[in-house]
This record gives sequence, C-alpha cells and structure tokens, in this order.
Amino acid sequence: MKGIILAGGSGTRLYPMTKVMTKQLQPVYDKPMIYYPLSFLMLGGIKDILLITTPHDLPHFQELLGDGSQFGIKLNYKIQDKPNGLPQAFILGEEFIAGEDVCLILGDNLFYGDIRFFKSAIAAHKEKNDGISGRVFAYSVADPRAYGVVEFDKKTKMVKSIEEKPAEPKSNYAIPGLYIFDSTAAARAKSLTPSPRGETEIVDLILSYKKESKLGVEIITRGVAWLDTGTPRSLLEASSYIGAIEERQGLKVACLEEVAFRMGFIDTEGLQKCIAALPKSIYRAYLERFLKEILEE
Ligand code: TTP
Repeated sequence: MKGIILAGGSGTRLYPMTKVMTKQLQPVYDKPMIYYPLSFLMLGGIKDILLITTPHDLPHFQELLGDGSQFGIKLNYKIQDKPNGLPQAFILGEEFIAGEDVCLILGDNLFYGDIRFFKSAIAAHKEKNDGISGRVFAYSVADPRAYGVVEFDKKTKMVKSIEEKPAEPKSNYAIPGLYIFDSTAAARAKSLTPSPRGETEIVDLILSYKKESKLGVEIITRGVAWLDTGTPRSLLEASSYIGAIEERQGLKVACLEEVAFRMGFIDTEGLQKCIAALPKSIYRAYLERFLKEILEE
C-alpha cells in the first residue's frame, strides 16, 4: 500500500504563525507536526510515501526529512500550487499510486494509542474479500458539528449518510483525515466538480464509493486519541497531551528513528547512523538511551 500525506493548505486559522511556515512544520510539543502523521503511516507498515505541499514549503520538508532512506522508507514529494481540495491529492499522486491501494492522511491529523484499528483496516483492504474498496474511519466526539459526520449501521458497518459540518448531526461519529482507497481514487477525483467554496470535496469522493456499495467504515476504538491541530487552542492542547504522555512515560511519541527501528525498516547500524547525524540535544539523548537498551538486550 502507498501512503500520501497532504501537507499544504493555507493554515489561515493559525495566522500569523503560518505566514512564513506551514502548519505541518509547527511544533507539537517537541517535534514538527509532520512527524506524527508520518510515523503513523510507518507504524501501519507503509514505506512508500508521497508528501504533497505548497511550492513555498517543499524545500523545508525536503531539508527536514530528505528522501527517507535514513528511516528505511521512500519519501517522494509533489507540489500542490493551490489548496484546491483534498481529492486533488489523488490526481497529483496518480503516477505515484501506480494502480495500487493508497492511504491518505492529512498532515495535521495526529493519532496516538492503540492503533490496531489502522493495521486491521490495512489488512482487510489488502485481502479484498469484503467487496469494500473505500474505507473511512469513525471517531466518537463530544460535539460532531464541526466535522464530517458519518451515520452507519453498527452491525453491518454500512454507511447510511455522511454530512459535512451538519447543524443537526445524525450521529456522534466524526470522520478523521484518514482514508484508504483503491487505485480508482484518482479517476473518481477527476470526475468531481468543485463545491461553492471552489474546492473539490473529499465527501463527494467518499460518496462515489457509497453509491457503488463499496464504502466501509472502521470504528476507532476508545483507546485512541485523535487530535486536530487547526486552531491555536487545539494546537496547544495537542502539545500538552503529547507532553504529558512523554514526560510521564519517558517515551517519545512519533520519534521517526525509533519507529523505523521498531518496524524493522532500519537495523542497529542504521539507527547509529541516524544518531550520529543529530546535534547534541534532548532528542539525541533519548535515541542514545534507546540504542543502549537495544544493545544490552
Ligand atoms: P484544512 O484544515 O481544511 O485547511 P488549512 O490547513 O488550509 O487551514 P485553515 O482552515 O486554517 O485555512 O486542511 C486540512 C489539511 O489538509 C491540512 O493539513 C492542509 C491540507 N490541505 C491541503 O494540503 N490541500 C488542500 O487543498 C486542502 C483543502 C487542505
């Protein structure tokens, strides 16, 4: 399965922080936001990843992450000139997807906790024996009005309706910025017409799978934190949350080098190389301690 991280957009709600630096490079506690969705895809076993961003921010991402080989993955880059909507990711990524299944995550979506829901969705998608070729996720939220809301049958998991920011939500389940589609996503995206706000809408792409009864929904279990970072307050809350977990456990969330090693993408030597490239820092000290523990095992 291929992975796409959509990390463009205008980030107007975070202005002026986003005047010179995109949202997905802002810090969430102790590392740039992009580390979280990237490590999440890696934890799902996805190694071939396309990062889509603005012409202005592309060099910064490249400087930060390079070609991914240090993490044992392949990072590709593509520019989205204007934020014309989420479905454009599949059009820009068509060549990259090259007829395979694809998982799209938005660069400002953070997941933390028991991510078996993600691994099992990927496994089910690969097996292809349930007739489902488009998958969205459902996350219980206190106030769904600010989200895309999915109504579904809890037994059959068949989607009844999806509504964007409804005034009267039909369920408490929001759809996070995480989607798994088959390779027809690009063709479907091309056939969409822009909404009144001038963008193509991901809801319309999702509904095209529903029309053909090929849409599935996976419920995200309660042991998972889904954090959004679009506003100053939610960004602060995400930082506080990650900070609390990390300081309590002494373990880092979304440390790319650690994830790469734990997933078997790099070996001890690869990890040593990553550490050698880091300046003296808390981050480096953490990885040195991790390496020491591995060598002592
Ligand atoms: P949004 O949060 O909808 O938009 P934004 O990031 O531009 O922020 P704001 O509303 O404050 O102006 O976007 C969700 C994610 O998708 C975010 O990571 C940016 C990304 N995105 C793109 O990369 N391209 C796009 O065309 C759109 C619509 C969003």
